[in-house]
Amino acid sequence: MSNIDVDAVVLPVRSDEDVVRLRQSVREQMIAAGFSLIDQTKMITAASELARNTLRYGGGGEAHMEKLLNGARKGVGLTFIDHGPGIPDIPRALTDGYTTGGGMGLGLSGAKRLADEFELESAPGQGTTVRICKWKPY
Ligand SMILES: Nc1ncnc2c1ncn2[C@@H]1O[C@H](COP(=O)(O)OP(=O)(O)O)[C@@H](O)[C@H]1O
Ligand SMILES: [Mg+2]
Repeated sequence: MSNIDVDAVVLPVRSDEDVVRLRQSVREQMIAAGFSLIDQTKMITAASELARNTLRYGGGGEAHMEKLLNGARKGVGLTFIDHGPGIPDIPRALTDGYTTGGGMGLGLSGAKRLADEFELESAPGQGTTVRICKWKPY
């Protein structure tokens, strides 16, 4: 990516309390970048879903949060990393309603819809990395 990443922070995702703190940090970062309340809410919702997956399915991990700049355009990027069992069938995991944990199966697909960019890398036995970005409209 050609975006300049500034001020990356690493946030632990190992407990419910970490998820609460992460939501607050994302909110602050989105406000600092000047995002609308709607975009703040979209990014916080997507971040919550991905953090819950990191905890529940990935056995915990971390989130990297960074301010993005692409020319004059501002954004916020979030990357969730775990070293859990991984996702054997990614297209299936991205299908609305698919869950292996008795959930709603809308976390990954919802996060993909709510973000402007979405990347999922995972392999069985190697863990999972999910990256989302939100860009401020001009
Ligand atoms: N970090 C992860 N590690 C391993 N599997 C995952 C991870 N995140 C998601 N998955 C798999 O993808 C499925 C769909 O996730 P999601 O859409 O968030 O729905 P839900 O959390 O309700 O199950 C999960 O049930 C799980 O099988
Ligand atoms: Mg989920």
